[in-house]
Amino acid sequence: MNRQLVIMTSDDLKKAAAYAAADLVADGMLVGLGSGSTLVHVLRRLGERVRDSGLRIVGVPTSYQARALAIECGIPIREAMDVSELDMALDGADEIDPAGNHLKGAGGAQVIEKIIASMARRYLVVADGSKWVEHLGRKHPVVAEVVTPALASAMRRFRELGGRPVMRTSGGKLGPVISDLGNPIVDVQFDGIDDPARLDAELNAIPGLVGHGLFVGLAAGAVIARADEAGATVEIVEF
Ligand code: A5P
Repeated sequence: MNRQLVIMTSDDLKKAAAYAAADLVADGMLVGLGSGSTLVHVLRRLGERVRDSGLRIVGVPTSYQARALAIECGIPIREAMDVSELDMALDGADEIDPAGNHLKGAGGAQVIEKIIASMARRYLVVADGSKWVEHLGRKHPVVAEVVTPALASAMRRFRELGGRPVMRTSGGKLGPVISDLGNPIVDVQFDGIDDPARLDAELNAIPGLVGHGLFVGLAAGAVIARADEAGATVEIVEF
């Protein structure tokens, strides 16, 4: 038998997971729309379903990026401030562990992303297999958003907690990256996170910290695409 090896790029895998996740969205749902490169594929697929199959949904975006793309894709939207509960939310991650705890915020949208995830009856993380890790925080930082008067004291507290905080700066502007909510972003690298629930609580107790990208106990499941000989296999993991 002539077996053909299919080489999948990481973007192909993101797309495979994204399409499987977008196809879990049902007619009539109010859906949280996450941010990032994986979510670009989710939004495009949802847009196709709205256009070609008459899917009736309303999306609630987590960022300017998601908002603009939802409009471009023909997905009707409502703003988070007008909604208290969602049927489902879909979003990407930087790292996910087997308990469903995960790190987010490479795109700086983690505060609104956490609000939207927490409003959803079913929040699913959508990712390619490279994001799956046994131990969180060895590669990616915890992304924190801090109001400016608290920057110096929060930096000290991040160090006390064992982190190495660095203000995020931009390639497109001199100086700090300012989030969609108008606050600076700090990337706090740890040498691994041994107890995600404890670190979550310690970070939440920092005065002036608006939010952070360590998501603990929020995800109902993950939609993960991994490469195999035939291309990609998509697995839905329940937490
Ligand atoms: C945006 O702030 C992030 O939380 C993203 O959702 C996360 O970084 C995953 O992004 P990619 O889908 O681009 O890997």
